[in-house]
Amino acid sequence: MKLWAGRFSKEIDKKTNDFNSSISFDSRMYKEDIEGSIAHATMIGECGIIEKSESEAIIKGLEGILSDIESGKLEIDPNAEDIHTFIEGELTQRLGQTGKRLHTARSRNDQVALDIRLYLKKEIKTLRSMLIELVGVICNKAEENSTAVMPGYTHLQRAQPITFGHHLMAYAEMLLRDIDRLDCAYRHTDSNPLGSGALATTTYPIDRTITARLLGFENICQNSLDGVSDRDFCMELASVLSIIMVHLSRFSEEIIMWCSWEFKFVELDDAFSTGSSIMPQKKNPDIAELVRGKSGRVFGDLMTLLTVMKGIALAYNKDMQEDKEAIFDAVDTVKMCLTAFTPMIDTMKVIPENMRRAAANGFINATDCADYLVKKGLPFRDAYKATGTLVALCIEKKTTLEELPIEEYKKICDTFDEGVYEAISLENCVNDRKTLGGPASENVKAQAGRVKELISKGSTE
Ligand code: ARG
Repeated sequence: MKLWAGRFSKEIDKKTNDFNSSISFDSRMYKEDIEGSIAHATMIGECGIIEKSESEAIIKGLEGILSDIESGKLEIDPNAEDIHTFIEGELTQRLGQTGKRLHTARSRNDQVALDIRLYLKKEIKTLRSMLIELVGVICNKAEENSTAVMPGYTHLQRAQPITFGHHLMAYAEMLLRDIDRLDCAYRHTDSNPLGSGALATTTYPIDRTITARLLGFENICQNSLDGVSDRDFCMELASVLSIIMVHLSRFSEEIIMWCSWEFKFVELDDAFSTGSSIMPQKKNPDIAELVRGKSGRVFGDLMTLLTVMKGIALAYNKDMQEDKEAIFDAVDTVKMCLTAFTPMIDTMKVIPENMRRAAANGFINATDCADYLVKKGLPFRDAYKATGTLVALCIEKKTTLEELPIEEYKKICDTFDEGVYEAISLENCVNDRKTLGGPASENVKAQAGRVKELISKGSTE
């Protein structure tokens, strides 16, 4: 029997019921639905809208339903319309007339808005701590590799020497901003929509501050139409999750590249790699590839939410039932990715010799060679040209700037002397870049230390 049976003379068509029902995906909010109903029942009891004794009986009944669901004694009916209907129906079965009073001064519209907010607030907290953990792991790896010289790239061409620690800390900074964005999404989710009713509140003397306090909301939705019809907190969270996935995907792409024999800068632990069914030599970075691939789902979820919401007149429309699968999928996907990604980074073996070897080929100290001449008084453009000529000479002679004899240097520009070798040593090139934000080992250590201190306090700036 449907909630709206009074107005209708027939039961809903079976297939239509399946189409209309959201129980298969909103049943995961059973706890939040019950929490919300307990707060509502408490409030309407305190405000004298129902008898205190009825309010108490309803709360007891709801607590019983919660423990029965958790223990497996009560199964959620897959034919129910949604989780709200199911729990209210079960309560009425258990309590009779009293159960029917729970929905006084409430609508499923404010109820569902409440449940999603409560559910997502918990999930944002979980996501936040998962990101904090990943940032911590990255900082430790960066500290361990603060002196590991590697080529920095632009256009995927060797460009200038940096350290692996410096490279890793770039991701720590991105993820710190992601945490900040999550905090902002949390604040926007932290408003109590309960009391908005179907769209226009209610004439009962409810007190929305009571439910806000009981449910731990910082704020109260100030407009009832907005309270029931907006889902921008879902869109905002999906946007933040999409950005997180962009960061994880770029990081994954680099790990995949670094695992290849062409690079071999890192090797993933066996526990976080897979083999091939036919090629015995293979060790594949499947986890990183899946994280990269799964970014598409999360972007898709964001697009779903934006598209669902963009054309619907205020207030509630059934289109909005489509919000949940999208935002749940985005949250689940990011959590799943982080669960595999963080220990993969933590256990990843770094091979500094290969990074150092790659750094030695590719003339990534050419800028420093030119700067050396500039420090000796040459205008930068002349120094640039002389160094370019030297690079061409090295390529021709199949050698490097470090190995080229000083006589050859002098032939191209007589400002050169033996001091050039120190100026272009990769270690010096890196460690002289001590400027704020630079790759010098001491910078990397300081940056990682600063970030670790921040996150230990749960903060991001
Ligand atoms: N299952 C619905 C949803 O997820 C609950 C709200 C139903 N409200 C309504 N007026 N039909 O959006």
